[in-house]
Amino acid sequence: MTATFNQPDPGRFPAGRRAFPHRDLLGISQLERHEILYLLAEAQQWVEFNHQSKKRSKALRGLTVINAFFENSTRTLLSFEIAGKRLGADVVNMHAAQSSVKKGETLIDTAITLNAMRADAIVIRHGSSGAVELIASKVDCPVLNAGDGQHEHPTQALLDALALRSALAERGQASEDFTGLKVTICGDILHSRVARSNILCLTALGATVRLCAPPALMPQGVEAMGAVPYHDFDAALEGTDVAMMLRLQTERMSGQFIPSAREYHRLYGLTQGRLERCAPDALVMHPGPMNRGVEIDSDVADMLDRSIITRQVEMGVAVRMAALDVLTRKTRGVAGWNDGEWQ
Ligand code: CP
Repeated sequence: MTATFNQPDPGRFPAGRRAFPHRDLLGISQLERHEILYLLAEAQQWVEFNHQSKKRSKALRGLTVINAFFENSTRTLLSFEIAGKRLGADVVNMHAAQSSVKKGETLIDTAITLNAMRADAIVIRHGSSGAVELIASKVDCPVLNAGDGQHEHPTQALLDALALRSALAERGQASEDFTGLKVTICGDILHSRVARSNILCLTALGATVRLCAPPALMPQGVEAMGAVPYHDFDAALEGTDVAMMLRLQTERMSGQFIPSAREYHRLYGLTQGRLERCAPDALVMHPGPMNRGVEIDSDVADMLDRSIITRQVEMGVAVRMAALDVLTRKTRGVAGWNDGEWQ
């Protein structure tokens, strides 16, 4: 690949619109459709870069990226770390369990501390909705939301869109957006930041989104987001092109939301039999971590021709490289952000 990484084609931006005017990536809700497509196009370049044997760019050389994770993570933390390192940045991970948060330090004091270390980008995962936005308001550098409570997980939705787009392209259904595509998201919608970000992203790209959950795990007002709610999983799967399964987020539940994992699997588990209700060759997605035998059977999760779960993980690195690259362009004085002020 060439220097085009830092010099995106200005022709991709709609006339009169600025390329990517945001300082932070806090949620899909802040993005316009063309900005989502822009980030996906940027990420696609990194997918190709990541297929090379040598995967080291100098784009972020000299910059410091802090990954501040106040909640557990495997995929998001590792892929942000790999993304930062492949871009040449100095990457530092802060795990809340080993930090002064455990000694009673407030979130704002932690934010002020990170800011004083003059990070060039801060990636944050936090268990409270809105915590990432609060930190962003206290620091001077770009902040990337790696998942905040039940609110948003924007890079997950972007990587899901990229994985979906690439799987469809391999089947000869290449398209910039998802117009006409039916996607069923099933699971603990109530507690899911992944569901929220995906509803926003998929509907912005033209997909029809069905949501399926037991009544206790379906939030109010999903219709206002453009999604169609279901409680009957078989009905929600009928003719769908994509089944996106979510785990029960017990860490965010207080009280009993389902009778038992076994009963949940009977009503809402994706099995081979249930997959037959979907459109022929429907794709299976899961953001991970999976609870095999609860929301998804192992033989479905591992179906080579249908499941794109590992592809989602692969796309996560590319999307996070794109996000770090785009958001640090102003700091680096590189073209491709905008000529005005950050929003
Ligand atoms: N999908 C996702 O956010 O996974 P992690 O919790 O492992 O980061």
